[in-house]
Amino acid sequence: MPPFPFRLLPDSSETIDGRLWVGGCDLLDLAAEFGTPLFVYDETQLRDRCREAVAVFGDGVAYAAKAFLCKAMARLAHEEGMHLDVATGGELHVALAADVPPDRLVLHGNNKSMTELRTAIAHDVGRIVVDSFDELDRLDALHEQTGRVPKVLLRLTPGIKAETHDYIATGHDDSKFGFTVSTGAAAAAVERARNSASVELVGVHAHIGSQVFVVSSFAKAAAVIAEVAGPYDLPEMSIGGGLGVPYVADERAPSITEWGTAVLDACANAGVTARVSAEPGRSIVAAAAVTLYEVGTIKRLPGIRTYVSVDGGMSDNPRPVLYGSGYETFLPRAIAADRPDTVTVVGKHCESGDVLVRDATVPAGLVVGDILGTAVTGAYGHSMGSNYNKVTRPPVVFVADGDARLVVRRETLADLTRLDL
Ligand code: LLP
Repeated sequence: MPPFPFRLLPDSSETIDGRLWVGGCDLLDLAAEFGTPLFVYDETQLRDRCREAVAVFGDGVAYAAKAFLCKAMARLAHEEGMHLDVATGGELHVALAADVPPDRLVLHGNNKSMTELRTAIAHDVGRIVVDSFDELDRLDALHEQTGRVPKVLLRLTPGIKAETHDYIATGHDDSKFGFTVSTGAAAAAVERARNSASVELVGVHAHIGSQVFVVSSFAKAAAVIAEVAGPYDLPEMSIGGGLGVPYVADERAPSITEWGTAVLDACANAGVTARVSAEPGRSIVAAAAVTLYEVGTIKRLPGIRTYVSVDGGMSDNPRPVLYGSGYETFLPRAIAADRPDTVTVVGKHCESGDVLVRDATVPAGLVVGDILGTAVTGAYGHSMGSNYNKVTRPPVVFVADGDARLVVRRETLADLTRLDL
């Protein structure tokens, strides 16, 4: 196999003496300084993707914080002009702790509790995206108590089956999310919200799924929800997130600019006059990061497989286990080398499903003690991480212009018992 495809690496990647540097930092030095496993984000790339989203959609575009959230990331997205989509009271808490102004926050969720809604209303968050009639009931009750009238969008389910993994498709009728268009629930919800004294209806929203490459699916969804909202002349419409990114060599995806332009054109053609906005998560953060591991054990099974065990696994990247997602792996010490060997990279957890990269191609001469990287790990890795087997969660560093900034420290053994009474 040819060398690792450079286009899957962060934008600032460069080869110096055969070694991979990102953000002006030698990855092997970072592994030595911060330990492994380690998430390394190209900060400039994060900022560039945020700016790209703002440039194409304008003000109103939100970063979907679920893809990767810590205080530094919340601040960065805010500094670059993005609003933040927070999907729970927990994400709301982190965004507020990062001093993101509440009016820049959009609260999502298919089962928001009274407490979550009360907190959002008390802070006067910018928008609440209402997902159900039960939520409208709760907002009525909160209006009785507080007299406040939050600005809301209604999440509509357009009946579009996005081409992606079933677990992350959300726009089809058989979905737990939103008001279904085909059953008439969407139209009924718009009527109810318009006539409600408890909420100010400013628009409609659809999110058809995640890791979607086909831009026309977004355009179709936009057309469906535009038709429901059209008669009411609502000022806002959000097409959600979902733009896919390439994880492996043979994948290609539209850029944020291409996606946004196509969506905006489709909306204009459908006669949409509302301000059209979006909530990208993965496409902002995924490709900006790599994860570094240390190889600890190599088990060769002649004629069967070679297992390369690293010091992380499904606790820092559950996506292969959950969705069968593919990744590519690289050796920072030999980034431009050919990759003649095939191995399976596994984690240190107590189950056989703990695979990070099945049939990974690697340079010859991989040995115990090598630092091994996986690319495109910036989205839904750290954020879906766990403490399974009481493995401590890795730290996160942002690198730029030769500086490495620790933004999330490594969990310690003391952290593992801090909730125990
Ligand atoms: N807006 C809403 C309402 C969402 O539910 C999501 C993602 C987004 C925006 C952002 O979507 P993105 O641009 O990141 O695709 N854990 C899965 C992905 C779950 C996505 C959930 N919702 C994965 O690792 O593939």
